[in-house]
Amino acid sequence: MRTERLAADAASIARAAEILRRGGLVAFPTETVYGLGARADDARAARGIFEAKGRPPGNPLIVHVPDVASARALADGWPADAERLAQAMWPGPLTLIVARRPDRVAGVVAAGGPTVAIRVPVHPIARALLDAVGLPIAAPSANRSTEISPTTAEHVEKSLGGRIDAILDGGPTAVGIESTIVDVTRSPARVLRPGHVTAEAIAALVPVQAAAGLVTAPAERAPSPGTHARHYAPRAQVALVPAHAVRGELDRAAQAGSRAGAVEYGSRTATGPHAELLPGDPAGYAAALYAALHRLEDAGCDVIVIAAVPEDPAWDAVRDRLTRASATP
Ligand code: TXA
Ligand code: MG
Repeated sequence: MRTERLAADAASIARAAEILRRGGLVAFPTETVYGLGARADDARAARGIFEAKGRPPGNPLIVHVPDVASARALADGWPADAERLAQAMWPGPLTLIVARRPDRVAGVVAAGGPTVAIRVPVHPIARALLDAVGLPIAAPSANRSTEISPTTAEHVEKSLGGRIDAILDGGPTAVGIESTIVDVTRSPARVLRPGHVTAEAIAALVPVQAAAGLVTAPAERAPSPGTHARHYAPRAQVALVPAHAVRGELDRAAQAGSRAGAVEYGSRTATGPHAELLPGDPAGYAAALYAALHRLEDAGCDVIVIAAVPEDPAWDAVRDRLTRASATP
């Protein structure tokens, strides 16, 4: 399959909408990461997402809609907590889990489950595309399963080129990590995946159950099927170490004959030929993280040493992604 590369102008958005309407696969920018879209009401189209990504069928997709009314139309009942969070945070990087209307969202999108994940993105190209299609669009991150999420059209091309119909290029994404996921099917709500919208901000609006602790979760059923430990993983082996131990870890890797890269942040000087120095604030760090990991992977690093970030709650979303990237498979 030839993958069309589309600039994000009006004609391209119309073209992308046409491909989606006839059941094709289009990658598009959102404020978090690029998504791989297909019709959420069409099982055959949605199945194409799982095929292109090599995604296990048990891992459900997020459905993207242009506004709160369209979200309500997909839900079997709309809890008061959903309304509060939607009014306060949408459009934006927040995903809500609600009961699914089976006549509106294909079972394959929800991995056969009774719930559906819904979000209203704020990115202007995503919004223009959703308006033009006029249908709910299922879209996971636009990468092969277990690879690093894409924050540029080039990342999408590298991972899915030749497997999907088109890529809408909207430049680098601003948030850089995936949306916060909140389950509002029961009260108190549960934060299933931390993100740019903090647990604190959620808790200021609705009652929230104490941190589910995804990475270190007790052996109960994983609350979000795709949040198993090794999900945001580069191909390289990742070591997450205290900042002061980065140098030593790089030396050890080099002595073992590895090509080692480093990810540090703030005012530290990045160490060695394959070193990425990220901003010292959580939002700036998150925006830059995946591009840094993609660069180190492209440079052929087989070991990536990452300086651990602060324990502060403001770093929860970043720490979650780093812990997953460094989890042993
Ligand atoms: O920012 C984002 O959320 C991006 C952009 C493209 O919107 N999308 C994204 O999708 O990160 P994906 O598929 O990479 O991650 C979706 C997560 C998975 O962990 C999946 O298991 C979870 O959402 N999920 C989807 N539907 C669910 C449901 N009904 N119940 C619980 N978790 C669900
Ligand atoms: Mg993903």
